[in-house]
Amino acid sequence: MTSATEFKKSVEQIRKEALQEIKGANELGSLDQVRIKYLGRKGSITSLLKGLKDFSEKERPVLGQLSNQLKGNLELALSTRMKELEVAVGQEGEFFDYTLPGRGGWQGKHHPITQVNDRVTEIFYGMGFEIARGPDVETDYYNFSALNFPPDHPARDMQDTFYIKDDLLLRTHTSPVQVRVFEKRKPPVKIIAPGRCYRNEAINARSFCTFHQVEGFYVDTDVTFADLKGVLSAFVWELFGKDVSLRFRASFFPFTEPSAEVDISCVICGGKGCGVCKQKGWLEILGAGMIDPEVFKAVGYDPEVYSGYAFGLGIERIAMLKYRIDDIRLFFENDLRFLRQF
Ligand code: DAH
Repeated sequence: MTSATEFKKSVEQIRKEALQEIKGANELGSLDQVRIKYLGRKGSITSLLKGLKDFSEKERPVLGQLSNQLKGNLELALSTRMKELEVAVGQEGEFFDYTLPGRGGWQGKHHPITQVNDRVTEIFYGMGFEIARGPDVETDYYNFSALNFPPDHPARDMQDTFYIKDDLLLRTHTSPVQVRVFEKRKPPVKIIAPGRCYRNEAINARSFCTFHQVEGFYVDTDVTFADLKGVLSAFVWELFGKDVSLRFRASFFPFTEPSAEVDISCVICGGKGCGVCKQKGWLEILGAGMIDPEVFKAVGYDPEVYSGYAFGLGIERIAMLKYRIDDIRLFFENDLRFLRQF
């Protein structure tokens, strides 16, 4: 039987030898041999711990603590050396081909709707239009009444409009911005108002509950329908190219008189007839007209002095034609596989 002093000596002896051997191990295999030699089932530390039972109850706790410290020391030294050796193996074994082209990261960009909206805005800006904005949450007055919608107009129905309260709703078009601008300014005003609109509609490939419009209007003395035709033609030719023709069809809107719906010759088939234009050769792209005297009266403009035109176009519609997209819902799903194509 060994004495406590001898036990302590052999603890120090083992520590010295083992740390040296761990340092000297040059590969993972020999390092594992060192581990087995000291910490394995028949290893020196294991038998040291087993020998503890021969000591008195007074000596045992101190010697036990010493042995456990030694064990901890060696385990730490082993794992540190193991990591060093693993890194070395990785460096030697890995083949790095520096002739390969680099892998670029994804670059963020604007949503296709934002891109088309910016392009449309830019074209009108270039023709002297200022930019104005109105709120998404509107009152019944600006969205309907001031725009000459009669009280029983179907658009005022809950079926078509999202109401927040009796008098508060999500705007169904950007036309209310006309009224907000007219209230604050005297003619001449030449403005476009881009923005988001909302409609309580059944969702399908052609219509969604929210979408974007650009409203345009020009009020001055002597503004005519010919000015409207000129500005819209210039816009269409700038956006789709000079080969496209325009057609003004008589229509009705409560806030314009006369009113027109504007078609362009189909940008897909050139007017011959295809699936996109439903064999008609024409595509409807916007609504327009001369601002109704009732709208002028509501904002205090004298209809005997001033005249003006207005138009409203849908951004999704234009984006769908420009990029040949057949389902409006794609713009709102934010699937990166779709968005990365623009
Ligand atoms: N506000 C109409 C809509 O959302 C579009 C429109 C038609 C706007 C004719 C106009 C206009 O300014 O003159 O359906």
